Amino acid sequence: MTLEEYILNHIDEEGEQLSRLSRNAHVNLLRPRMLSGHLQGRILKMLVRMQRPQRILEIGTYTGYATLCLAEALPENGEIHTIEIDDELEDFIRKQFEDSPLKDKIHLHTGDALDIIPQLKGTFDMVFIDADKRLYSEYYDLIFDKVPVGGIILADNTLWDGKVLEKPAAADKQTTGIQNFNEKIKQDTRIEKVILPLRDGLTIIYKLDHGHNENSKN
Ligand SMILES: C[S@@+](CC[C@H](N)C(=O)[O-])C[C@H]1O[C@@H](n2cnc3c(N)ncnc32)[C@H](O)[C@@H]1O
Repeated sequence: MTLEEYILNHIDEEGEQLSRLSRNAHVNLLRPRMLSGHLQGRILKMLVRMQRPQRILEIGTYTGYATLCLAEALPENGEIHTIEIDDELEDFIRKQFEDSPLKDKIHLHTGDALDIIPQLKGTFDMVFIDADKRLYSEYYDLIFDKVPVGGIILADNTLWDGKVLEKPAAADKQTTGIQNFNEKIKQDTRIEKVILPLRDGLTIIYKLDHGHNENSKN
């Protein structure tokens, strides 16, 4: 047994719907590895339990796997908005949400997050950035003022398969995008930040009060 199998054997199960969704994605979709999966999904749910956000924004829906995990722990009147640019995924995603008892809490927006985010009203206590790796810094700038003090921003894939350690080829805009985002987050004194070496790297960002992060290296 691998350590990963041991972990999955000793944490909450993902549940019937999510395991069906995952199997379905592996049979029918390209790049099923993009979905969060059992362990990360349970961690996302736990973070919602701990933070108790009323409103969540997810950037990059893909199958809706993480959307459903985040929605599981939302409080009574909580809601999650999720944005997906690929309209060919819309039927698949809507079917997952329709099959869920959480469907009334979930709002799917089909289109480019760069266009949709400025149109979204209100604030988001938690944001999960998980779309185009080249655009992480742009997403961050767009959502920052929509996150209240004390809010959490999560960013997935911030270790990018270890490629963050390498000098990327000129054409590798995804690695450059993640490296630039990580540098930007490092320099930003308005937040506290930590990178969890979970899967492909999950950055957790906490928005401070006006503030200056005294633990910051800068
Ligand atoms: C890694 S997958 C998301 C996985 C999902 N969050 C999960 O954890 O299960 C990234 C998704 O972002 C979408 N995407 C890429 N650029 C986007 C953009 N500018 N706006 C909205 N979605 C985008 C892609 O089409 C893809 O489906």
